[in-house]
Amino acid sequence: MFQCVGLMGTWKLADNTATDFLDLNHWLTMARRCEAAGVDFLFFADDYGYPVVDGGLPATAIRGGVQFPKGDPLAILPALAAVTEKLGLVTTLSTMVEQPPMVARKMATLDHMTNGRIGWNVVTGAGQNASARLFGAAMTGHDQRYEIAADHVDLSLKLWEGCWDEGGLVVDRESGIYADPEKVREIEHYGPHFSSQGVLTVPPGPQRTPMLFQAGASAPGRDLAAKYAEAVFLAAEVGALTEQIADIRRRAQQYGRDPHSIKFLIAGTFIVGATESDAWAIRERQLATRTLDDAAASYAFFTGLDLATMDPDKPLDPSAAKTETGRTNVERFLGPDAPTVRQILEEFQRNSVMGSPFIGDAQQVADQAEATIAATGADGFLVQPDHTGTFDSFIDLIMPELQARGLVQTDRPAMTLRERLLGTGTPHLAADHPGAAYRNGAAAHR
Ligand SMILES: Cc1cc2nc3c(=O)[nH]c(=O)nc-3n(C[C@H](O)[C@H](O)[C@H](O)COP(=O)(O)O)c2cc1C
Repeated sequence: MFQCVGLMGTWKLADNTATDFLDLNHWLTMARRCEAAGVDFLFFADDYGYPVVDGGLPATAIRGGVQFPKGDPLAILPALAAVTEKLGLVTTLSTMVEQPPMVARKMATLDHMTNGRIGWNVVTGAGQNASARLFGAAMTGHDQRYEIAADHVDLSLKLWEGCWDEGGLVVDRESGIYADPEKVREIEHYGPHFSSQGVLTVPPGPQRTPMLFQAGASAPGRDLAAKYAEAVFLAAEVGALTEQIADIRRRAQQYGRDPHSIKFLIAGTFIVGATESDAWAIRERQLATRTLDDAAASYAFFTGLDLATMDPDKPLDPSAAKTETGRTNVERFLGPDAPTVRQILEEFQRNSVMGSPFIGDAQQVADQAEATIAATGADGFLVQPDHTGTFDSFIDLIMPELQARGLVQTDRPAMTLRERLLGTGTPHLAADHPGAAYRNGAAAHR
């Protein structure tokens, strides 16, 4: 399970190829390699934002390539679908930028183009302060963004699940019937933030609703995950991960869902070499590329806070650290053992939003990863790109070790992303998912 954004700085290494991100061949090669290795899916993080300090994109972020520049993953995915048959393709669309009918239409089309291998990572958007300015909109408060997200997903689900019954698409040339009017209908939705009467003009693809992912571990983020997500991306140290997973499962149960139907995937950094000392040498090279300025710009992107204006020897002042941008990376540094601002910067320089990396030879990192899964109750990893900006070291060195331990299955046949990850034997949403309630006319406009 792979993600395609590099952490800050690493692009400076001579053997790093992340700077080829606007060359389609970079992605085609990556997708082919992942598919051949039996990887479950490739994830494209996305966001319109970038770091904002003092009311604009700071020179340090421009110079250092921190959360800047970026491309649009949606333009790349169909090309990847064309050169793969099994690999899942997951991307982010922000509920603050895209209107529900836009998300529904794009994802339904991609569900067809990928033969049911598409997933939507539902986020309210990390670089919210930047994207609000870009779109000329007032910044919406953090918790309200999550209320909007819930309403957004609710309407999107109605469009995917409620407009077309099974068998609605007929295409009978002899009788001249394209689609069955008894089985295609408008839905209606009058939510707190979105109203809609209408039909999704795209017939359902193999999954109908794309597989739903969520990322963002603030309290309302967890609630959104508990209500709608089928898989959740998390990034933290073991203790926090364990707490977050247990909390989201508890919340899912309160929403009437099977808490174990949700898969938790840890954003994992694997630094592997032929020997342990090779791996540490890679780690040292990587760390040498990251400046404290990069760290401050990265922190500003995720939180909207400028650490450079704060006392480096004191912890975050909770009243000064109130933010309407992202909260996960503020909350993780509060509490009884809170680090100082300088320590936060140093931690961000080392690992940014990720937990500590696994470092060593293949056996050592596999041991560390196994221990993390056992301690947290997570289901797997969203592997981060290595120092080359690819997943080659993971594929070449770690996959064989995981395969030998029976922890990954690399020869599975083609199937939908939902079947691949959830293993429930159906390409569709589970019966206890709120989207299932909108089937067969339940969300109809009457
Ligand atoms: C592995 C992982 C991937 C993420 N991908 C995205 C992404 O593509 N776009 C985005 O805006 N936020 C992404 N996030 C979430 C942000 O880091 C951030 O937490 C969130 O957007 C803000 O919500 P919060 O206040 O709940 O933290 C990701 C988080 C994790 C752990």
